[in-house]
Amino acid sequence: MTDTAKFELAGKDFDYPVLSGSVGPDVVDIRKLYGQTGAFTYDPGFTSTASCRSEITYIDGDEGVLLHRGYPIGELAEKSSFMEVAYLLLNGELPSQDELDGFSRTISRHTMVHEQLATFFRGFRRDAHPMAIMCGVVGALSAFYHDSTDIHDPQQRMIASHRLIAKIPTIAAMAYKYSVGQPFLYPDNSLSYTGNFLRMTFGVPAEQYEVNPAIERAMDRIFILHADHEQNASTSTVRLAGSSGANPFACMAAGIACLWGPAHGGANEAALNMLHEIGTPDRIPEFIARAKDKNDPFRLMGFGHRVYKNYDPRATVMQKTVREVFETLNVSDPVFETALRLEEIALSDPYFIEKKLFPNVDFYSGVILSAIGFPTSMFTVLFALARTVGWVAQWNEMITDPDQKIGRPRQLYTGPTQRSYVPVGER
Ligand code: SDX
Repeated sequence: MTDTAKFELAGKDFDYPVLSGSVGPDVVDIRKLYGQTGAFTYDPGFTSTASCRSEITYIDGDEGVLLHRGYPIGELAEKSSFMEVAYLLLNGELPSQDELDGFSRTISRHTMVHEQLATFFRGFRRDAHPMAIMCGVVGALSAFYHDSTDIHDPQQRMIASHRLIAKIPTIAAMAYKYSVGQPFLYPDNSLSYTGNFLRMTFGVPAEQYEVNPAIERAMDRIFILHADHEQNASTSTVRLAGSSGANPFACMAAGIACLWGPAHGGANEAALNMLHEIGTPDRIPEFIARAKDKNDPFRLMGFGHRVYKNYDPRATVMQKTVREVFETLNVSDPVFETALRLEEIALSDPYFIEKKLFPNVDFYSGVILSAIGFPTSMFTVLFALARTVGWVAQWNEMITDPDQKIGRPRQLYTGPTQRSYVPVGER
């Protein structure tokens, strides 16, 4: 039996069906509301709006739960691999060994980019932000792979999906190489997906590059932690772009552009910059005070989340991975100590407790990525690299959803009502 939500407006009563998912909040199906009432709902930022049905990722923000196709992120980070999680997100089930081997082989066979794409980089200034390059180059892929842009052809959708997942590490590594003036390295398909990326990024043609297995494992886990996250801003951007029938390469470029914002994927770069600005723990109270000051736009980067009102389960794994990477590299970083102290102070402060502000996935990631050797300008590129798997899975789900139609929100209009034109001489 379907429940109904009762709604009264202008003295009239309206009933709307309440739909239940497999877990999580019910939804009120208001698709007929405007047609029946002549009114819109108003929800800037979509804080109370479900935009779609999805079977891919479930988040319980109050409990700090994150499931990918039902599997907890902590278990996947500990026991799985990024390639296996990519298969899971795309296909809905964990692969058999043969299925995983076949998928990995297919992805490996698409890691090279069209040779002409390398010259495309030449148009950028060497000091261009790598995310600007990613927006441009990923958007340009549809100029090279137009044989996989027919979104109504399942075969072309699959090829485009594999091309995006396979080529994004190559393009990310090329963006880094271009920024440091080093030559691009071709993929080496004898390496793992993540090992290949590390070699293309940090290797040079002049000598053999040995992938450090501990760093490879840590990087692979970081990719798993960033793979997908329900209907966040960049995923919603990919879905909205895809709802118009835009080709998948253009949709992913739109997602990259949205992810770049410091309130979203750009927060990892901003969080490390903030930790460097704080410097030593004795300056933490000054920054905590600024974060609480309504007149100061400063926010603690890497803290807070639209959905998590508990500890982001990804931040837990990320903090653990910092310790492992430091131990492997036999390094320490005072910034990590500052981050730990900042978390401790913030989580005992009434402001952060009352507003349920906890560290999110971006708070510790910069500390690890910096220790591995990435410049801060590459942090969001790494986020985009991993999230491409989630974007591709969500895009495929949207394209095949019978309910889906072009996304076209309305508005509450507060501008001038109709008025007549006044010639400039009479103004
Ligand atoms: C990601 O959506 C996703 O799933 C995203 C993501 C993913 O995997 O795709 O998880 C990745 O984007 C993580 C978030 C990274 N961003 C940051 O760390 C930037 C700092 N955080 C904030 O800007 C903020 O917390 C957001 C943007 C993340 C969430 O903002 P909301 O949900 O719109 O909440 P809000 O801005 O309305 O804040 C609620 C209150 C406000 O105070 P009041 O107006 O109620 O008095 O909390 C305050 C805010 O001022 N607040 C903060 C704060 N975050 C929120 N105060 C100080 N420092 C902060 N970081």
